[in-house]
Amino acid sequence: MPRMTKLLLQLQAAADRRHGHGGIGLGPGRGRRHTPAAGRFSPACLALCLLAVAAAATTLAVALTLDRQSPVPAAAGPGASPRGFSVVINTWRRHALLQRSVAHYAACAGVEAVHVVWSEPRPPPERLRRGVLINGTRRGTVRFEINEADSLNNRFRPIRGLPTDAVFSVDDDLIVPCSTLRFAFDVWQSAPSAMVGFVPRMHWLADPRGSTKEYRYGSWWSVWWTGTYSMVLSKASFFHRQYLDLYTNRMLPSIRKYVTENRNCEDIAMSFLIANHTGAPPIWVQGRIFEIGSSGISSLKGHGLQRSRCLNTFAAMYGHMPLVATTVKAVDSRRSWFW
Ligand SMILES: *[C@@H]1O[C@H](CO)[C@@H](O)[C@H](O)[C@H]1NC(C)=O
Ligand SMILES: *[C@@H]1O[C@H](CO)[C@@H](O)[C@H](O)[C@H]1NC(C)=O
Repeated sequence: MPRMTKLLLQLQAAADRRHGHGGIGLGPGRGRRHTPAAGRFSPACLALCLLAVAAAATTLAVALTLDRQSPVPAAAGPGASPRGFSVVINTWRRHALLQRSVAHYAACAGVEAVHVVWSEPRPPPERLRRGVLINGTRRGTVRFEINEADSLNNRFRPIRGLPTDAVFSVDDDLIVPCSTLRFAFDVWQSAPSAMVGFVPRMHWLADPRGSTKEYRYGSWWSVWWTGTYSMVLSKASFFHRQYLDLYTNRMLPSIRKYVTENRNCEDIAMSFLIANHTGAPPIWVQGRIFEIGSSGISSLKGHGLQRSRCLNTFAAMYGHMPLVATTVKAVDSRRSWFW
């Protein structure tokens, strides 16, 4: 099945590139409920498959090119495990939540290591450290990554000794069930240069017919309504570890500076980076995830405005809008009846 998914996704990426934003013939909304899951034979899948086959003759070359552009090194260096992934948890002053989420992820199959990105002014208290470590030792290793400065860029700092190519980046208050996590990891393995995640967002042109390119941030509701997305947020997503290096050492310093100063939009910055690197959309995995904390920053007033400002600022810094929109989703079919 991963191979099938890969082919479909590549063809989709190629089709998206050829037709610009908005994706292929699955109209907005249609893909919402009857989403095409590779290997599941539904009318929507039939349509997609036919489209894919029709597109195959002309886009195979593009798909192959995409594949070759893929930034992923063929050999993963000594000691790297191609089988599992590392969970990188970003936390901020919620020690009880952190303990719960470390315990959860450390027990999931496929998790080789759990890294906690720590940016609080004081080092982790002994009690927390002990609790987290005790709970963590059942499977892989658990480690704190201590940062001196408090910046949202910390969550993307390269991690020394990371045992896997795959990184699952997650906030301390988000729980993805182990089976869903495993499914998303399989999807990522079929497209390791892509960002694969659970929280989709969209960028819209404020005035599609106007000559100025001003963007608006599309929240969950706009994705729900149109079935179209162009980002998956790093608060619950897989990506290749090389993007940590690209983000920290090669991305425009002005973007990192903006993120630190505005205390926002590190996730949009990562979406831009990967989109610019691959020229392809991310992959949204539709599945159940659970929030265990109280609501965070996204419930604050004016949040959408600030996010829109990030889109426009970053697009200006890049000199173009790298994000690519799509309607294709990967659906965890065992759970699709929830949607
Ligand atoms: C380990 O995690 C569980 C929750 O799964 C928690 O109740 C327990 O207190 C933790 N153990 C320690 C030593 O903190
Ligand atoms: C975007 O990608 C292109 C091609 O890989 C690269 O040359 C350029 O530096 C990237 N832009 C930014 C701002 O990173």
